[in-house]
Amino acid sequence: MNTAQTIDTAASPALELRGAAKTYGTPTGGITAFSDFDLNVGEGEFVALVGPSGCGKSSLLKVIAGLSKLTAGQCSVAGESLKGPRRDIGIVFQSPLLFPWRTVLENVLLPVDVQRLGRNSQMSVARELLDLVDLTEFADRYPKELSGGMQQRVGIARALVNTPTILLMDEPFGALDAMTREHLNLQLQRLWMERKKTIFFITHSIAEAVFLADRVVVMTSRPGRIAEICPIDLPRPRDLDTMVTPEFGEHVRHIRQYFGGAEGGLD
Ligand SMILES: Nc1ncnc2c1ncn2[C@@H]1O[C@H](COP(=O)(O)OP(=O)(O)O)[C@@H](O)[C@H]1O
Ligand SMILES: [Mg+2]
Repeated sequence: MNTAQTIDTAASPALELRGAAKTYGTPTGGITAFSDFDLNVGEGEFVALVGPSGCGKSSLLKVIAGLSKLTAGQCSVAGESLKGPRRDIGIVFQSPLLFPWRTVLENVLLPVDVQRLGRNSQMSVARELLDLVDLTEFADRYPKELSGGMQQRVGIARALVNTPTILLMDEPFGALDAMTREHLNLQLQRLWMERKKTIFFITHSIAEAVFLADRVVVMTSRPGRIAEICPIDLPRPRDLDTMVTPEFGEHVRHIRQYFGGAEGGLD
């Protein structure tokens, strides 16, 4: 496995995984979700992870989020060995899990309330984030009044309210229609360029990974290992025209060959 293409040398890593593996104990024996995972994600880098369903992507993200422990190897964040959830890491899941009885603004403020940080000091940050995701007009509405894409944007604003330096995203746009998804991809790129976050983004859309990322980590099926780390040197900002360039198509084709010709996705 340690070919030149899987050895990773990002300078000043925000996130570092060494020989990382996760095996779940079950009554019928161990299930290894992923193993032999070596990756550095550089500060301010956008890394996307693609792989087939069940190859351990979410398991890996939960480890980095501090919600689950490795069974082998190490994970460090900002040079410190990971001990549990950290305030400098924000997480966006596929379903934003908004509280229906809270307004949009109150949902964004949820982490502030949970950590008893005091709403007053954080109110301007929350409002600024709503502006960033184009939801200022909806601050006082309730989740049921919002479309799926808008709800997901609330989830993104909420993940940013503690001003994390690292954003972990687990198939955040997977449940949305293609046009909403393209729009959110553009917004996410803008947010990343303006706010200089480190983003670790899981998707099973190869095109989405190529569109967003500086590097795409391609995983094999379970137990998930790194098949290749592909640098994506397309200029930024990328826009919808980027997707019809030959270079874009070449990256997508290259990654797709790992998955037996699946059409852009991996299921
Ligand atoms: N808590 C758990 N206990 C036992 N097995 C699990 C648990 N979570 C995930 N798995 C198994 O680990 C494998 C990887 O799951 P997951 O990380 O969710 O994959 P992905 O996100 O790539 O679809 C799957 O076979 C899944 O059934
Ligand atoms: Mg998953």
